[in-house]
Amino acid sequence: MEQKFWLDRWEKGDIGFHRDAVHPALQAHWSELHLAPRARVLVPLCGATPDMAWLAAQGHEVIGVELSQLALERFLSEHRVRHITMEEPGFRTYLGGRYQFWCGDFFAVPDDVFASADAVYDRASLVALPPEMRRRYAARLAERIRPGAKMLLVTLDYDPAQMNGPPFAVPDDEVTTLFDQHFDIARTNNEDALADNDGLRKRGLTALTESVFILARKAVA
Ligand SMILES: C[S@@+](CC[C@H](N)C(=O)[O-])C[C@H]1O[C@@H](n2cnc3c(N)ncnc32)[C@H](O)[C@@H]1O
Repeated sequence: MEQKFWLDRWEKGDIGFHRDAVHPALQAHWSELHLAPRARVLVPLCGATPDMAWLAAQGHEVIGVELSQLALERFLSEHRVRHITMEEPGFRTYLGGRYQFWCGDFFAVPDDVFASADAVYDRASLVALPPEMRRRYAARLAERIRPGAKMLLVTLDYDPAQMNGPPFAVPDDEVTTLFDQHFDIARTNNEDALADNDGLRKRGLTALTESVFILARKAVA
């Protein structure tokens, strides 16, 4: 999936994936990660999600990674975050309040950004990527995240004959295949999500399941 695809979507305002309200799975399951309030949370492919403001309100430091400058500047403006910007090789960074944003390609983020994270929050990130990129995404997290780090992962599954992604269908057994070697995985919830995703129903889905997983990076052997 080309970067231009996403940049164009933000340019055109074609952002049906964006929710104005905090995602219910985040509010329902975040406490199960048992993090310290000041824990640092990496939000890959973060868009402009208000979930980051909810995480900051819990006391967390939030590290968002996003291709689109428009998305990050929308978040900073909507949440009135006073910030500074800096230019790093391949990235523009925004620093302000409890936020550190990296504007650029997730797959090029410096290792120390991952190493500083205590947790990862993924809603609509893994499922935004086609299969080969999902493998690279999971491998990158596994390689760079510190042992003991936790992750809240929200996935979607549906019949791929009914709709082309993104979001892509990621069945639970694919989550196992992608992460099992390096993470302990617990699925905490699995529910019908069609009623809450009108846009996907209009694209042809007659059934949609949302799964919520809690992962913990295993100790390195
Ligand atoms: C489906 S949206 C989800 C955004 C956010 N997680 C949310 O819940 O609203 C996927 C986002 O990933 C961004 N993105 C896609 N590929 C990326 C990459 N390689 N590096 C950084 N961001 C990327 C897109 O610009 C888009 O904002």
